Amino acid sequence: PETGCLSIIVLGASGDLAKKKTFPALFNLYRQGFLQSNEVHIFGYSRTKLSNDELRDRIRGFLPQGKELTNDVSDFLQLIIYVSGSYDAPEGFQELDKAISEHEVSKNSTEGSSRRLFYLALPPSVYPQVCKMIKSYCMNKSDLGGWTRIVVEKPFGKDLASAEELSSQIGELFDEPQIYRIDHYLGKELVQNLLVLRFANRFFLPLWNRDNIANVQIVFREDFGTEGRGGYFDQYGIIRDIIQNHLLQVLCLVAMEKPVSLKPEHIRDEKVKVLQSVVPIKDEEVVLGQYQGYKDDPTVPNDSNTPTFATVILRIHNERWEGVPFILKAGKALNSRKAEIRVQFKDVPGDIFKCQKQGRNEFVIRLQPSEAIYMKLTVKQPGLEMSVVQSELDLSYRQRYQGVVIPEAYERLILDTIKGDQQHFVRRDELKAAWEIFTPLLHRIDQGEFKSLPYKPGSRGPVEADELLERAGYVQTHGYIWIPPTL
Ligand code: BG6
Repeated sequence: PETGCLSIIVLGASGDLAKKKTFPALFNLYRQGFLQSNEVHIFGYSRTKLSNDELRDRIRGFLPQGKELTNDVSDFLQLIIYVSGSYDAPEGFQELDKAISEHEVSKNSTEGSSRRLFYLALPPSVYPQVCKMIKSYCMNKSDLGGWTRIVVEKPFGKDLASAEELSSQIGELFDEPQIYRIDHYLGKELVQNLLVLRFANRFFLPLWNRDNIANVQIVFREDFGTEGRGGYFDQYGIIRDIIQNHLLQVLCLVAMEKPVSLKPEHIRDEKVKVLQSVVPIKDEEVVLGQYQGYKDDPTVPNDSNTPTFATVILRIHNERWEGVPFILKAGKALNSRKAEIRVQFKDVPGDIFKCQKQGRNEFVIRLQPSEAIYMKLTVKQPGLEMSVVQSELDLSYRQRYQGVVIPEAYERLILDTIKGDQQHFVRRDELKAAWEIFTPLLHRIDQGEFKSLPYKPGSRGPVEADELLERAGYVQTHGYIWIPPTL
């Protein structure tokens, strides 16, 4: 691993993302020894005028509490230095550069290195100007070696054209290996497990195709609405917020061909290919919903058509997947909170147990909560009688990996940015292909040509979505439900 001075600069340090995600993730890395205090300094930058201690106090409230952590928390906070300035004027960035350089010199009496990681916890509208400032005033000092990287987060644009424009603006200043586009779903434990499951297990190799799989569902549900962020959300809607990025990334990993190797570029090449094989979405394979009460939020316009729920079927035109619907479903204010991948297998041909069965074989990957992988299968009901019942082979993480703490997505991804591993980040051509899939539909929704159906908060969403699922060939299991084991 590289050694020498590492500076992590959080731009937008007083904002929500920084406080809730970035600093807590940095703290966890610090606690686990990934950020050595003799090498690392953390800088916060934003427009608000604050002293170092004022910023530290703001962050403290978002870090884990507990007596045994008090020392770690204060040591960590001491690493943070605050610089305030605007996002479009040189002065602030010159001052920031000075602060970073001083620290690089003081820490580098023995070993030279200037590694600078800029985390843009900012609205994308300011990315171009901020990148320009970094490029002009804050690049790593080449005589010391090291690198400069930037980390950006969605929304990357609102459609194909705006995303491409943003990509070109950033692309003129930084090379692709310097740009880390975060999709935090790629940092989730079970999402990271997908390639291993698929390509390290003989079980799945012959089954993972159109001959055996009837349909694939990738589902995201939340049991709360957009309270507190209605203004942001209304500009984007559920497709841009969840489906075009998080669920589509998961789809890539479920559907892609085996990469040549585990090299990040090989993996990303295969993801791009799958995205490019998706055919245009058909109107009759989309259901949009908006929960009743969404427009009560004063920051949401009264005539908003923004979907808070969507089911969209994607079809992949290739040898492996022709004819298999990939059902992407996401919704806010539903009856439960969970994210899962559900691979449903076809019926058994010439099935002699058919009339007794509760449902089909399904392979389920529960991303959250209660991480698990389970296989639904039909077995003999134990006992004297010869009857069958649906059961499961269950790998529940909490039970199987007791005492293992599953890292937060952001923690893992930030560590990757320090190591320079881009596997779990979205490449520019991948982003473009993702927007190509959804842009025509999004434009029609924006123009009001595609309406969101009302649904009750706390429900399953519009009934039309369940009907669509049925039409797509999904067969519901009856009288069986998987219950995560408790310890
Ligand atoms: C974010 C979305 O990207 O992901 C939010 O903007 C959503 O709307 C969140 O709530 C869900 O993330 P997680 O990790 O809680 O599933």
